[in-house]
Amino acid sequence: MDQLIINGRCKLKGEVIVNGAKNAACAIIPAAILSNDICVIENVPHIEDVISLVEVMNEIGVKTEFINNNTLKIDSRNMVNICVNYEPVTKIRSSYYLLGVLLGRFNKAEVAFPGGCNFGTRPIDLHIKGFEALGATVNLEHGIIDVSTNELIGANIYLDVASVGATINIMLAAVKSKGLTIIENAAKEPHIVDTANFLNSMGANIKGAGTDVIKIAGVEELTGSTYTIVPDQIEAGTYMVAGAITGGDVTVKNVIPKHMEAISAKLIEMGVEVIEGDEEIRVVVNKPLKNIRLKTLFYPGFPTDMQPQMAVLLSVVEGTSIITEGIFENRFQYVDQLKRMGAIIAVEGRVAVIEGIKQFSGAEVKATDLRAGAGMVLAGLVAQGQTIVSNVHYIDRGYEDIEKKLNAMGADITRISIEEDN
Ligand code: EPZ
Repeated sequence: MDQLIINGRCKLKGEVIVNGAKNAACAIIPAAILSNDICVIENVPHIEDVISLVEVMNEIGVKTEFINNNTLKIDSRNMVNICVNYEPVTKIRSSYYLLGVLLGRFNKAEVAFPGGCNFGTRPIDLHIKGFEALGATVNLEHGIIDVSTNELIGANIYLDVASVGATINIMLAAVKSKGLTIIENAAKEPHIVDTANFLNSMGANIKGAGTDVIKIAGVEELTGSTYTIVPDQIEAGTYMVAGAITGGDVTVKNVIPKHMEAISAKLIEMGVEVIEGDEEIRVVVNKPLKNIRLKTLFYPGFPTDMQPQMAVLLSVVEGTSIITEGIFENRFQYVDQLKRMGAIIAVEGRVAVIEGIKQFSGAEVKATDLRAGAGMVLAGLVAQGQTIVSNVHYIDRGYEDIEKKLNAMGADITRISIEEDN
């Protein structure tokens, strides 16, 4: 297990290049299974979730090759459709996309229940509702989700909640179905659009991705494709907050400013200077920042995956701030770790009331999930003294080279490996 040793108080200055979007890559890589030829995916983030997905795909005969650190070649022409029940499946949430692609290609899929960050129950009832609407029978037993049908028939599906995973999974199952599928109340995140664009580049017929009504006209075959993944909105936002919390001057490069609007707006409201270029955003702090209210919402609202990072920032801004978590029922588990560094936060259900403190004091803390782990690193950057962050494997699930990127801008972070107690 790795730890990050962070010597606090730094002021970040410089540039950071954002990798491809984790939540687009984790959908697009399995989606390549729907093609009858080779796919080459560019701008793939080299992160643990991608490595776990590739491991699982290799187990079912999909040939994969990293042509370079961020370009992945995928050949699923000779794969076998067997039960996908390998340890990596239960480590990541995005393994559920194997249901949609195996159902879409073979009319049958058997995949172990997915894992993923623990924010409370993470149901997949909407995924199942979608598969059943397309004509599949779903059985859940022995920890395996078994979906099968003789033929996938297009259907109208209304999502009770604008679920990212369910929207993508239904698209994956519907692209080769018979007839038209309409998803209403669909999620609109950038990774939904990216996945639809990838599928269309293979010959799918998907319209409306990015709006709350997506129409998928089934096609017979999907060809191979070479595709470049969009930049990661959340990695970019994390480095913008790193610049803000350290009172520095950080330029985040390889971003799509449009995707960052909700994050930029909140930082501007706090008094951060945000300067947008075509493919970069510069964050500069020239004055004391102001406390705010924040609610996480479905896209284009403020993203839930930036909630922990903003709680860390607001913890060292004078005054009372309030964060309401609008997506998950229990996404404040990291607060106890932050309190070890001096944070004053009261959590009631989905609401956190934050009293700004002068500064964090360095402490030993644990990453409780992927984005909370990134938040602990941000706190360490501005803490008095040394902070040791454990469970760094959570952070590595979604951030490529986080300490290298921060050290290049003036941070003092060392990664050490700790022998696991067997
Ligand atoms: C995706 O998770 C992301 N993961 C999460 O990112 C992200 O936090 C989340 O979307 C919201 O944006 C991946 O893309 C791999 P949802 P997902 O289905 O698909 C409820 C990160 O840090 N719901 O949009 O699981 C659910 O309980 C990770 O990168 C149902 O009720 O999220 C939640 O309240 C963390 N039934 C809401 O919808 C379902 O069948 C949104 O969940 C599915 C979801």
